Amino acid sequence: MIILRSDEEIGQIRKAGLIVAMVLDKLKRSAKPGIGTNELDKIALEEILKNGGLPAFKDYKGYPANICVSINEGVVHGIPSERKLKAGDIVSIDVGVKSGSFFADAAITVGVGNISDKARKLMKVTEESLYRGIENARPGKRLSDISANVQERVEADGFSVVRSFVGHGIGEKIHEEPEIPNFGKPGKGPRLESGMILAIEPMVNEGGHEIEILDDGWTAVTKDRSLSAHFEHTIAVRDGAAQILTAL
Ligand code: CO
Repeated sequence: MIILRSDEEIGQIRKAGLIVAMVLDKLKRSAKPGIGTNELDKIALEEILKNGGLPAFKDYKGYPANICVSINEGVVHGIPSERKLKAGDIVSIDVGVKSGSFFADAAITVGVGNISDKARKLMKVTEESLYRGIENARPGKRLSDISANVQERVEADGFSVVRSFVGHGIGEKIHEEPEIPNFGKPGKGPRLESGMILAIEPMVNEGGHEIEILDDGWTAVTKDRSLSAHFEHTIAVRDGAAQILTAL
């Protein structure tokens, strides 16, 4: 069952989402050569708590940190560590916040110092594919119209969408129904309705779509070690255009 949220509940999810947006904005400005990814984690925790939220990922299924930081071939779920960012890296930062009873979740990928043209293009195409998905999150459309449009945008530039992780409904739990794949045929699945809250999150690889999990049990990397990018927003389906709940 996909829960339809009232305007009041959407307002509460927006509160969590605004904290996510502020944290991501701060982390984007902090992602400079030489900073440790555990320093980014600390900045995120301080910013979340200062704004009255709680870090949603910490201890979720045993996850050991407050945010996910996935560098270069890292796809998602990179664990903050002593590792320092260096010029030329691309780094995906994923933040989840609980405020009151509600969650919001978003991710960005940022370049550290000067990055290659191909890295810049991968990031641009991934972000555009997220917006193609969001544009299709409208009443009357079906769930897989989001998926198909994300995939189409990604493959138009020869990149590949990760299959083994998906977007998701979100609300009083970080992961609710439905699952939102970033690939598939259009016109399938439930019809979208105003009040559905969705976290749409394309993960896009420069090379093949296959991933593997490192020995830490969390970090997903591209099997071919090509670059990967990830953008995510929590949105509310509304009459007309979707409302992005994790933008500043
Ligand atoms: Co998510």
